[in-house]
Amino acid sequence: MSDDPGVVVAVDVGTTSSRAMVFDHHGRMLAIAQIQQRQFFPRPGWVEQNPAELWSAVQRVIPQALKSAGRSVSDVVALGLANQRETTVVWDRRTGRPLAPAVTWQDTRAEPIVEALAPNTDEIHQVTGLRPATYFAGPRLRWLLDNVPGLEAAAHAGEALFGTLESWIIWNLTGANKGGIHVTDVTNASRTLLFDLRRGQWSNRMLRLLDIPPAMLPRVVGSSEVYATCARVLPGVPIAGALGDQQAALFGQTCFSSGEVKCTYGTGAFVLMNVGSAIVDSEQGLVPTIAYALPGEPPVYALEGPIAMTGSLVQWFRDSLGIIDSPAEIETLASTVTDNGGCYIVPAFSGLYAPHWNSHARGIVVGLTSYVTKGHLARAVLEATAWQTADVVNAMRIDSGLELSKLSVDGGMTSNNLLMQHVSDVANVQVVRPFVSETVSLGAAYAAGLSVGYWPDLDALRRNRHVAASWSPQMDAQRKRREAAGWRSAVARATVEV
Ligand code: G3P
Repeated sequence: MSDDPGVVVAVDVGTTSSRAMVFDHHGRMLAIAQIQQRQFFPRPGWVEQNPAELWSAVQRVIPQALKSAGRSVSDVVALGLANQRETTVVWDRRTGRPLAPAVTWQDTRAEPIVEALAPNTDEIHQVTGLRPATYFAGPRLRWLLDNVPGLEAAAHAGEALFGTLESWIIWNLTGANKGGIHVTDVTNASRTLLFDLRRGQWSNRMLRLLDIPPAMLPRVVGSSEVYATCARVLPGVPIAGALGDQQAALFGQTCFSSGEVKCTYGTGAFVLMNVGSAIVDSEQGLVPTIAYALPGEPPVYALEGPIAMTGSLVQWFRDSLGIIDSPAEIETLASTVTDNGGCYIVPAFSGLYAPHWNSHARGIVVGLTSYVTKGHLARAVLEATAWQTADVVNAMRIDSGLELSKLSVDGGMTSNNLLMQHVSDVANVQVVRPFVSETVSLGAAYAAGLSVGYWPDLDALRRNRHVAASWSPQMDAQRKRREAAGWRSAVARATVEV
């Protein structure tokens, strides 16, 4: 008899790509497969994706990853999902066909709907924990109901369904010839502006306010439980966990105790602090959200600071300015100088998210003199990510009343030593990078593996975590004060309307 415990597969349906990974019992990644996805920009502020393309990517990456791990479907004990959050999909219950493009989390077309909610801001905040913004799913669902012919009537008749991406993928995985189950995980539900954060259910008040037909909503489920078995792609395998990608990263970083914080650096960056089983409201521009919900336990909450632009600023430096040829080169260039030469960049290309929430802010470069070289500019690009992290971390310190001495990091930019050192310096935290840096998928795998007993408990997951690198604050206090003042003044200028 074999004592092979099998493997867990995780799928992350992200913004730029869908990825599948295969994990073993030690939380080691055995294989990865990835497919890039298109984004469509039909009008200024509109960002769409094709739901069928995302589902097709999932169908392809799973077998590819299994094959390169040398495993077969019968070795898979559970499937876990993570997804870009807030992206809104509507589809036909009978045919399973999307009724509109997926309207993604970056899309701002619902601005007029959000503006109309302004008089109800306090009540909405009280119920959902959120302040109205185009970032959340509910307003763009209202936009679709207003603008897709026939959708409103179909929704009232229970023929049109709404879901975020985990919901769409689970529907497809569990339906063989027709649709499968219609569920959403609670962490994704908490980002819709339709969910009562305290009661843990859809809010009738919010559904009335946005005039959303309840018949189109998925059933809300926990983050770590068997929802159903796959009818397709991995036939017979239980779908046993689902989380929004940033909550999945918190889980994958094993931030299970109150006060533990992670930051994932991708296109943007998302800092989440576990705040335990009571909601911590924010006075500092952070977003209270559900971190995860385990069976038989009250939900665990998080405070989140979303930062819109970090890695994408490096991309802009490469693609639009052509100063570097690859993202890795920015560290080499920034290392040719010892400081920023007085130059600061605030990457408010589409406004500023946490903690400022200023949609009118625009990007700015300040402090240019003849002394400034491209090395200083490269440094200013990296420092923008560090200062934005520090702004969110400081807001978390105030909101939570906790000291916050350690920040667990993951994502592409964490291979940049100069940046990680600067984050540590200006946020005044020890920065720690775990050995497995694919923490979004790892978190989805952990949630799924826990619910089928592949891992017994959270302690077993903690034991799988090994630190690969860490950085401690080194900058002298005087320099830090001077640079902090420079950054603050640059942010103030970026938020002046032009
Ligand atoms: O809230 C948006 C976030 O979930 C997007 O994540 O990694 O797909 O850009 P990502």
